[in-house]
Amino acid sequence: MAMISGFESIEVDSITPHIGAHISGVDLSQDLSNEQFSEIYRAWLDWKVIVFREQDIDRDHHKAFARKFGTLHVHPMQHSYGGDPEILSVKTTKNSAYTAGNAWHTDVTCDEIPPMASALYIKETPESGGGDTLFANMYLAYDLLSDTMKEVLDRLTAIHDGALPYLGNYKVAAPAGDAYPKNEHPVVIAHPETGKKILFVNSGFTSHIKGMNGWESKALLGALFDHITRTHRLTCRVQWQPNTLTLWDNRCTQHHAVWDYWPDSRYGERVSILGNERPSAE
Ligand code: SIN
Repeated sequence: MAMISGFESIEVDSITPHIGAHISGVDLSQDLSNEQFSEIYRAWLDWKVIVFREQDIDRDHHKAFARKFGTLHVHPMQHSYGGDPEILSVKTTKNSAYTAGNAWHTDVTCDEIPPMASALYIKETPESGGGDTLFANMYLAYDLLSDTMKEVLDRLTAIHDGALPYLGNYKVAAPAGDAYPKNEHPVVIAHPETGKKILFVNSGFTSHIKGMNGWESKALLGALFDHITRTHRLTCRVQWQPNTLTLWDNRCTQHHAVWDYWPDSRYGERVSILGNERPSAE
């Protein structure tokens, strides 16, 4: 960890040199000053994943903090969770058939406008340890590709299908009379705020590349998913403690919740923030 200079109202300590930072000097149960919020926002854009420890907050505080970034998102599987539509429970017990997010993915890219951010507040961590979340820097995933591969990918579009995880993996039917969202996005997008290029396919939702034969699409996506899995320098690892809140920029990261703690339990709540525009190559 290294302390990052240039912040006056909060302290920022990096987790790795290119992704992840701890933020301290902030109490999310209290109103943030304009200076604190604008420094948190800058730290979030710079570090992509920001971690707040020892936050004693309730659902209203959690939602109020997330709402400072934008409108809250309602998850396509909310009909199966019930409860507050803006809160997604992330609960794993010894009886769970799956744990949400136990594979590399970006949240809800099947939506026409996917969430721009998610804020996960973990309340209960596994008794014997484990249950960390890995995050990957998708700017760096793009930058590390050859110029030839970049030129190919820059022209492609991919389909992102909610049925892939929600029906295929989790076996939860879509709401009656409805189907899960399915949308296409460029394979390489530009971050709407930083302008930097991002590799925007993920093994959770991306079903195929438009205009390619099945085998071609499978080979290309397989190679890109392998790049994310194998390139450990893309990642940082968040080790949760009870009452940790982590906010990630969902446009330029992927994450993987590691289920290595069965038969122990883990519990948290996630609030996601709607993006302002469709992902775009420009
Ligand atoms: C998710 O948002 O995919 C869940 C992440 C986690 O439980 O760590």
